[in-house]
Amino acid sequence: MSTAGTFESTIAVTGPSPYTVRIGHNMDDAIAACAGQLPGARKAAVLHQEALGDVADGLQRALETAGLEVVRHTIPDAEAGKTLTSAGACWDELGRSGMGRRDVVIGLGGGAATDLAGFIAATWMRGIAVIQVPTTLLAMVDAAVGGKTGINTAAGKNLVGCFHEPAAVFIDLDRLLTLPADEIIAGSAEIIKTGFIADPRILELYESDPRACLRPDGHLPELIARSVAVKARVVSEDLQESGLREILNYGHTFGHAVELRENFAWRHGRAVAVGMMFVAELSLREGLITGDLVERHRRILGSVGLPTTYDSGCFEDLYAGMTRDKKNRDGHIRFVALTDVGRTTRIEGPSAESLEAAYTAITV
Ligand code: GLY
Repeated sequence: MSTAGTFESTIAVTGPSPYTVRIGHNMDDAIAACAGQLPGARKAAVLHQEALGDVADGLQRALETAGLEVVRHTIPDAEAGKTLTSAGACWDELGRSGMGRRDVVIGLGGGAATDLAGFIAATWMRGIAVIQVPTTLLAMVDAAVGGKTGINTAAGKNLVGCFHEPAAVFIDLDRLLTLPADEIIAGSAEIIKTGFIADPRILELYESDPRACLRPDGHLPELIARSVAVKARVVSEDLQESGLREILNYGHTFGHAVELRENFAWRHGRAVAVGMMFVAELSLREGLITGDLVERHRRILGSVGLPTTYDSGCFEDLYAGMTRDKKNRDGHIRFVALTDVGRTTRIEGPSAESLEAAYTAITV
């Protein structure tokens, strides 16, 4: 299943706007064929980060061969791409290029690029098609699947956005070959999260050979497919996060507070890793899980180089950060927690003492 250069998988996302996530290699022709088959599509606007110019060149050739006129627009890297200014530049470009209702936006890049491209497609002419082509591990296993789109404003991250499901998602495993090791390690946090909330086989793979789990010619393709399969199942059932989808936020309540405290200089995956350690320690204190399961978190996360401790020197700041989480209800901090691997529950409004004890446990 995980031979280099041969892995292929297609995962269906069901619901009102069904689509597929295709995982494989050399996918430019498949992306172009998909865009070319969208009814009435004549133009494809490829929104991509500067560093992906060569990748966008290859995709442009394939799209043109499929008979589409290509509009290219570069966006700033990472969160700098998710601003109103950057969105405005995209809308201006679509306007200049005469992009119509039946044309298609292609989001090529990391999670920020796919979030922005989805938002641009959702808002242009009240919604046109978007094809997502994630190029980072984090975007492959999380951001590009599930239809969440948005930009950041002064009020906070992702506060402006909407659900807009893609027409298709293409995960080209060849993109993994040039990713920095740090980015693969950080993206692995979301895969490990998926293992804890829904797929014990993921955890077994990390336990059997953590190094192979970081390699594109090792277990990584299978881990991506497993993570996408879980996400597809969850968002098929609950696109708008009215229930089940919340489980994808395991480790994120404390993780977001860490990102805030670190002024977003920490990679999201690293913050989620310590967020999982925090909620595991909290769950232990709430009597939900055993110390063995807490240690399993520590062992697996540590085995791939993810952080398992965090000391900000100021718990009050983290507490304030957690109280700002948009998943909270009625003024209570809410955590997705486990009662066992694959069995999720919630902790609502834990005492300040429990929170501080969990924090103390991860500072050592
Ligand atoms: N990143 C979590 C979600 O898509 O719901």
